[in-house]
Amino acid sequence: MLVLGIESSCDETGVALVETMAGPVPRLLAHALHSQIEMHQAYGGVVPELASRDHIRRVLPLADEVLRSAGRVLRQTGLVAYTRGPGLAGALLVGAGVASAMGAALGVPVLGIHHLEGHLLSPFLSADPPEFPFVALLVSGGHTQLMRVDAVGQYRMLGETMDDAAGEAFDKSAKLMGLGYPGGPALSRLAEQGDPAAFKLPRPLLHSGDLDFSFAGLKTAVLTQARKLGDDLGARKADLAASTQAAIVEVLLKKSLAALRQTGLRRLVVAGGVGANRRLREQLDAACARQGVRVHYPELHLCTDNGAMIAMAAAMRLQAGIAEPSRAYSFDVKPRWPLDALTEQ
Ligand code: KG4
Ligand code: ZN
Repeated sequence: MLVLGIESSCDETGVALVETMAGPVPRLLAHALHSQIEMHQAYGGVVPELASRDHIRRVLPLADEVLRSAGRVLRQTGLVAYTRGPGLAGALLVGAGVASAMGAALGVPVLGIHHLEGHLLSPFLSADPPEFPFVALLVSGGHTQLMRVDAVGQYRMLGETMDDAAGEAFDKSAKLMGLGYPGGPALSRLAEQGDPAAFKLPRPLLHSGDLDFSFAGLKTAVLTQARKLGDDLGARKADLAASTQAAIVEVLLKKSLAALRQTGLRRLVVAGGVGANRRLREQLDAACARQGVRVHYPELHLCTDNGAMIAMAAAMRLQAGIAEPSRAYSFDVKPRWPLDALTEQ
């Protein structure tokens, strides 16, 4: 069956076509993406109203592009999936509305997907997909969570952030260094030229004994350090960026290793925008290789938001027999929606 997936939870419009097959993993036929980064750049962050309007403009042309490049026509679609949450309410409503209208027009069911489940399953889009069970480190702009994943739809929270997400720590630190939006990639690029040991920054909750995170204090420490540097900030910016990145990466690394130890699992999946961070990948790879743990990442371009992961999550739910697609075409969205709420108790 062909599954068309639509992602519109934040500042990227993504559409993709995935085919369910007899094999264990569905196959991605095509995907297309429009990033709103340039549009929001002038405001230093995402403007929700502008995001919604832009999703409306982009989604149908992207769907056309995907169908064309897959050599299929819309009529062949058997299920339309969309991101139901979490995310910006207005932005989510665009994807939900368009998916429901398409489903109604085609007479096929629609299925709302959890955005983080999309990230979590995105490594299944790569050539060497993981096997269940695994520990997942979900690190995006809005979430930082360690999960135990036993199967599609079986997610148990092991730990999460008490305040800012890892991506937010990157973004906010970058902003106060004047690096613009989105700060994560900019900060990590600058960090390449800096000394990660130049400044002593806190590693919050590193020794807390649990698997929770906290990044709000780190941002304050970066701000204090930047103020202390004053006019010298310009010359030391790369060092501060490298030190900030080192602090975030060390916490993510140590807590992931602790989660592996605690669960006894030998497989780690890293997903979400921060999973694109080079230093995080290098350090996880090295530490996991020493301990005989396999690490799986989504392909680099599928780390950040995209439609492929939404279509994939829908197709995997379908294949696992746990999807509940609807022909009611009366949609709602869930701007706040914990991932472990998906697990049937
Ligand atoms: O998963 P994502 O695209 O969107 C959310 O669902 O939030 O993640 C976006 C986040 C942003 O905070 C961005 O700064 C961060 O991922 N990010 C990075 C890198 N690429 C994206 N952070 C650090 N290093 C990167 N290379
Ligand atoms: Zn995301």
